[in-house]
Amino acid sequence: MNKPHPPLQQIPREILCAADYERLAPHFIASPGLAYIAGGCADEVTLAANRQSFARTQVLPRLLRDMHDGHTRCDLLGRTWAHPILLAPVAYQRLVHPLGELETARAAAATDTCLVTSTLASQKLEDVAQMAGAERWFQLYVQPTQTATVDLIKRAEMAGYTALVVTLDTAIKLPSRRAQEVGFAMPPDVIEANLADYPVPPPIVVEPGASRVFQGAMRQAPTWNDLAWLLGQTRLPVLVKGVLHPDDATRLQAMGVAGLIVSNHGGRSLDGVPASLDVLPRIRQAVGADFPLLLDSGIRSGSDIFKALALGADAVLIGRLQVYALAVAGALGVAHLLKLLREELEVCMAQAGCARLADIGPDMIYRHEATSC
Ligand SMILES: Cc1cc2nc3c(=O)[nH]c(=O)nc-3n(C[C@H](O)[C@H](O)[C@H](O)COP(=O)(O)O)c2cc1C
Repeated sequence: MNKPHPPLQQIPREILCAADYERLAPHFIASPGLAYIAGGCADEVTLAANRQSFARTQVLPRLLRDMHDGHTRCDLLGRTWAHPILLAPVAYQRLVHPLGELETARAAAATDTCLVTSTLASQKLEDVAQMAGAERWFQLYVQPTQTATVDLIKRAEMAGYTALVVTLDTAIKLPSRRAQEVGFAMPPDVIEANLADYPVPPPIVVEPGASRVFQGAMRQAPTWNDLAWLLGQTRLPVLVKGVLHPDDATRLQAMGVAGLIVSNHGGRSLDGVPASLDVLPRIRQAVGADFPLLLDSGIRSGSDIFKALALGADAVLIGRLQVYALAVAGALGVAHLLKLLREELEVCMAQAGCARLADIGPDMIYRHEATSC
C-alpha cells in the first residue's frame, strides 16, 4: 500500500472542477480509509443509483435571457444565505486530516457556507463552533439515554448552533463490504469526541432465539414518540434527515419539524433504496411548495445541484466531496471545492436562463425515466 500524501498547502493544478477532488483523493487517503469513505453498503446498488439518477437528468438550456443581476442567494428558515450549498454531517474527519472538522469549519466560515457538525465528529462540537461561521447546524443521533440526548442538545444550543438535524435513517445499517474486505478499522486516535464523556451503555444482550435485529440493534432505535419528545427539548428548529417516503414526509411536517432532508445517506444505510433525486419530486408534491426541503446523496457538481433544485430541493448537502477536498488541501481545499461548486451552479443557471434560484424549475429538466417511484 502506498503511503498517502499529507494535505497540501495549495490547490493542486490538477483540480479543474469539483469532481476532480474525488479523482485525486486516492493519493491522499490510505486505501482502507478511502474504502470506508467512498463505499456504500452491501452491493452498492443505491450508491450507483444516486449517480445514475443525476446522469439521467439533464438540463435544458434557454437562450437570450438577461442575466446581469443574477445571484445564488437562498432563503431558508427565515434567513438569507449566499448560496444553497451546505456541508453535510460527516463523521470522523480526523481520518483524513489531523485537524479534521476544525479545518472544514474554517472553510465554511470563509465561504459563507452552513456547516452541519456530526454527533460523531472527531473534534468537539464546541471547538468546531468556534471556527465555523454564523450558520452552523448540529446533526443529532438520538443517544441510548435521554440524559445524553438532552445534554448534546443543550451543548449545541450553548455553542450557537442555529438548527438541529436529526438523522433517522441509520438506526441499523449494513456495513460497507468494500471497507470490510480491506480490513478497515477506525484508528484509535480518531474518536467520537462529542460522546467521550458519556457513560458507555452496556452491550445489548440478545436472548437465545431472539432476533439480533428486532430485539438487538433496533431495541434502542428512536420511534415517533421519541421524536415528539425530542421536539419538546429544544428551542431550535429541527430538521429530519433520511426521508424517502412521502407519507413520512407529511407526518413529520404535521409534527412541526422545520424541514426535511431527502437522503439515502449517500447509499450507506440500506442497499436497494431509490436515489434521493428520484423520490424528491414526490416528496415536494406531498409537502407543498413552501416547506423547506433539502437533498443529498450523489452530488458531485454544480449542475447536479441545479438538477436537485429544479426537481424540488431548496438547498443541497455535500458529503464525500467535502472529505476528499479536506484530505487534498485542508481548509483551503474545502473552500476551493465550495467556490467551484457555486461557480458550476452559476454557469448552469446562466445557460438555463435562471438569474435566481426561484427561477429554477422542472421545466428546465429533460429526464430519461429509467425507473419510476
Ligand atoms: C464518511 C461518511 C461519514 C458520514 N457520517 C454521517 C454522520 O455522522 N451523520 C449523518 O447524518 N450522515 C453522515 N454521513 C452521510 C452524509 O451526511 C450524506 O448524507 C452523504 O454523504 C451524502 O452523499 P454524498 O457523499 O454522495 O454527497 C456520512 C457520510 C460519509 C461518506
